[in-house]
Amino acid sequence: MTLAVQIRQHGGPEELQIVDVQVGDPGPGEVRIRHHAVGLNFIDVYHRTGLYPLSMPAGIGMEAAGVIEAVGEGVTHLKAGDRAAYASQPPGSYCEVRVMPAKCVCRLPDAIGFETGAAMMLKGLTAQYLLKKARPVEGLEPGDYVLFHAAAGGVGLIACQWARALGLRLIGTAGSDAKCQLALDNGAAHAINYAREDFAARVKEITGGKGVKVVYDSVGKDTWDKSLDCLRPFGLMASFGNASGPVPPFAPGMLGAKGSLYVTRQTLFSHIATREATQAMADDLFAVVESGQVKIHIAQRYALTDVQQAHRDLEARKTTGSTILTLP
Ligand SMILES: NC(=O)c1ccc[n+]([C@@H]2O[C@H](COP(=O)([O-])OP(=O)(O)OC[C@H]3O[C@@H](n4cnc5c(N)ncnc54)[C@H](OP(=O)(O)O)[C@@H]3O)[C@@H](O)[C@H]2O)c1
Repeated sequence: MTLAVQIRQHGGPEELQIVDVQVGDPGPGEVRIRHHAVGLNFIDVYHRTGLYPLSMPAGIGMEAAGVIEAVGEGVTHLKAGDRAAYASQPPGSYCEVRVMPAKCVCRLPDAIGFETGAAMMLKGLTAQYLLKKARPVEGLEPGDYVLFHAAAGGVGLIACQWARALGLRLIGTAGSDAKCQLALDNGAAHAINYAREDFAARVKEITGGKGVKVVYDSVGKDTWDKSLDCLRPFGLMASFGNASGPVPPFAPGMLGAKGSLYVTRQTLFSHIATREATQAMADDLFAVVESGQVKIHIAQRYALTDVQQAHRDLEARKTTGSTILTLP
């Protein structure tokens, strides 16, 4: 038997319950992994509340790092004893040991610790595809401006540093002056406190009236309208989350009126649909972390048994950078 966090129904943090579960042997294409650290992500909140519905009872959590205990038939890229980390479906990483599909589990380079591995896979692979794949039609060149909301968060602090490494001028938004300073310290060229400033007006000012080529928006409902006003003609609105609530339906004609804009709504799980794609993206992430160009900031640690508090703090915007759940 092993400890795991489950929900029996969608709802608030109180639904996160510690349970004892039986863990068996991996089947074909699966591994059994013993976690050393687990990553906390905003998608875990969507799973818990039911914004992204799950069948009950459900495990929660999409990211962790640990050691492979056993591999099932057909798994060739991992073996027992390997250090490994992942961002992967299905939810269920809030636990000590689990059996799961091997496809998205990657060997963790020796230079990267378990806690860092657990803190960076989902957020880092997301920053990777946003900056390298979710690009405007006119491309992105060093010196270009991009707007990145919630820049002091988990995905945000990685994106600030990676954008700087790519030569992009990232304008970050965040909900307090301290968070803005954190974004600047991590490579943002400019930071806007969107709790008290009109971010669209500030973006126009910073870019000399031109606007940015791409907006990366994970805040959703609260930032959607104004974000469209930050774009240059033919610019890309890359929506990738709903921390403030889902974006309401809109009329496509409005995109024409605002400068023939493009809109995309992407999810990491489309990008890591195959083992080869996952490994290629992970190799890129490992390289940028090993080179020191991107540092993973673990700003909060909670025991797995304090998972309810971890969710409360994440939803209350009290966290910055990455958060991990530690195991006994
Ligand atoms: N589509 C994908 O592939 C993908 C993958 C990973 C993550 N995501 C999304 O990316 C976002 C960041 O994820 P993360 O895990 O790194 O979380 P995070 O950024 O560490 O936390 C979310 C942040 O969103 C901001 N926020 C704005 N309005 C909010 C509200 N009403 N309630 C709560 N937070 C609010 C807060 O920062 P401020 O106080 O500075 O506003 C908060 O700290 C999430 O929306 C997540 O769903 C999407």
